[in-house]
Amino acid sequence: METNSIWVSKDGKPFIEEHIGRTALLPSHRVDLRNFTEREYNKLVKMDRVKDWSSLSWKDVGKPLEVKKYSNDRKQYEESYGEEMKPFTSWQYFNKAFHEWFVKDVPNEMKEQKNQFFKSLKSFNPQQIKSALGDVAKIQLWNYAHRIQDGVWDPRGKRALFEGLDVTNPRILFLGAAEGYEGMQLGAMYPGAHITMVDYDDYCRNTRFEEFPDTYPFLGENPSTGQQKVYYKGDFIIDYIVNDIRNLPFGKEFDIVLSVGLLEHFPDGYKPEVMDWHRKFLKPGGYAILTTPRNQLRSRLYYNVMADVMNHTYRELMTVEQMGLYVYENGFDIKQHGFIKVHNGIVAQSR
Ligand SMILES: C[S@@+](CC[C@H](N)C(=O)[O-])C[C@H]1O[C@@H](n2cnc3c(N)ncnc32)[C@H](O)[C@@H]1O
Repeated sequence: METNSIWVSKDGKPFIEEHIGRTALLPSHRVDLRNFTEREYNKLVKMDRVKDWSSLSWKDVGKPLEVKKYSNDRKQYEESYGEEMKPFTSWQYFNKAFHEWFVKDVPNEMKEQKNQFFKSLKSFNPQQIKSALGDVAKIQLWNYAHRIQDGVWDPRGKRALFEGLDVTNPRILFLGAAEGYEGMQLGAMYPGAHITMVDYDDYCRNTRFEEFPDTYPFLGENPSTGQQKVYYKGDFIIDYIVNDIRNLPFGKEFDIVLSVGLLEHFPDGYKPEVMDWHRKFLKPGGYAILTTPRNQLRSRLYYNVMADVMNHTYRELMTVEQMGLYVYENGFDIKQHGFIKVHNGIVAQSR
């Protein structure tokens, strides 16, 4: 059931268990407490299509697609400093640019950008018109991809990818956590979790995570009733550490090590090291969970139109088969794999 208004607030929590089954479109994002029927599940997620990873080769699956169009900010930086932008700086640029889109009042901005476009027509200045048209395209695409389709957060798809783990009160380590969304989704699904988020850009802890809405509902499990329960950011135990993943002081102490959109930012020579980051902190039998963006027509279009927002860093788009081969070849057994609207997801255990 879809509604455009926020439901009646109770104890400062706008969404409670009686709202399970509903979705609502707010000015900056969708909230979604819908479950899925078996038919919907098969449309939302495609799971476990590869039967034997050992028989798959790079010749069969090909290599990922490198996204070559960079943001203007990166290009200007490199022109003025006469050197390539370093990865850490590129993440700082990316995190700031991306966050600014999450907090937009999208319907208002769409109106504003349309007005700007009509004004630009009167200028008869082709450069101005082109730029205003580009802004209209970006906000329309963001509205569709993030707000209407909920492709970035995609709670139903992520729940389908992450379900079925054998863990109790898990310790979860989120590598490159940004605003921390998927760590909190796992926290709702596996109650009693202690979540450690790590990102070396302090903007992620201080702004992206800090400003993540306290009123956003995550659908999860109630351990005392076995029923579903609505959780909020404030319900989770979270430590947010600002540090480089390569300097973390932990041993093999986590039940789950998670990364979302990390592996595809490293060329092949570095991927074994990235997979090692996942293995290094896992208890024996613990789960590595990774997601990466899919290589599909609409994602290629998205990264092209949204280059100024998204493309400050090296980036690849890949298929779940390519992603799985990186995971498998680097010493993991793949327990679950699949793809949802715009992401691939893999749950794996170290061999
Ligand atoms: C693509 S983002 C994650 C995607 C995320 N869902 C988002 O919305 O931005 C990857 C994150 O990893 C962080 N990161 C990259 N390399 C890191 C490292 N060596 N140590 C700590 N954090 C790192 C970046 O700062 C960035 O916030």
